[in-house]
Amino acid sequence: MPNDWEAEARAEVDRICDEFRRGIAAARRSIAQHTSDIDGFLQTTKLFDGPRPEMVRADAFAEGARVFASRNELLRSVRLPAAPTVCEIGVWKGSFSKAILRDLAPARLHLFDLRFDLLDPDVRAHGAVVLHEGDSAEGIATLADDSLDFAYVDGDHTYQGVRRDLQGVLPKVKRGGFIQVNDYTPWSVLSGFPYGVMANVNEILGRGLVKVVGFGWHPYGYHDVLLRKG
Ligand SMILES: C[S@@+](CC[C@H](N)C(=O)[O-])C[C@H]1O[C@@H](n2cnc3c(N)ncnc32)[C@H](O)[C@@H]1O
Repeated sequence: MPNDWEAEARAEVDRICDEFRRGIAAARRSIAQHTSDIDGFLQTTKLFDGPRPEMVRADAFAEGARVFASRNELLRSVRLPAAPTVCEIGVWKGSFSKAILRDLAPARLHLFDLRFDLLDPDVRAHGAVVLHEGDSAEGIATLADDSLDFAYVDGDHTYQGVRRDLQGVLPKVKRGGFIQVNDYTPWSVLSGFPYGVMANVNEILGRGLVKVVGFGWHPYGYHDVLLRKG
């Protein structure tokens, strides 16, 4: 038997989703009376109130770019010089920090988060780890340009938040270095909220600043994309 809170929470989420889907279906029917481009119209409403991700050109993909079954497999594909300097933007409990420490064996792992009260004690105590508490964009600005071999970006997922982190980290990554970006999607299915990750990544791909070298699959669409700086 589920607990009371589970039954109540499930009923509440189901009610909200039923109402939302009925509402959108009704709105689509009424929009259809005025235009056949229903999706085009809806992209300009609050239903998708992030900027539209632009199309990615064929030259955005490096030769030999590969698709992996998960973000962890994607991380394991990264080849860095010995004793690299790396960072993670958005850390939470540090579960991916552990993977970074294990798979990339960094000499330095700069961790950026608003707070570290939930951070795994083993990650906190690791000799390579440097904690930067506070807004990530402000913290990244304190690193030297061309100092990072690898950056993992998973902090504020709004369009402006991702923009600040990506624009901030790009000059800090060496030429030939890597940026792995989590949640490469325009829409978070489990929070019902637009994410700004895809729009921002596609924008820097369009400017030719990076190329896609890998893709890490996620069953709910929270994919990772691995970029190499040119
Ligand atoms: C999805 S969690 C990170 C999960 C972690 N990368 C992992 O895979 O285990 C996102 C984190 O970003 C942090 N965050 C959100 N906005 C931020 C900001 N402006 N500056 C720094 N950290 C931020 C949150 O506090 C949260 O811990």
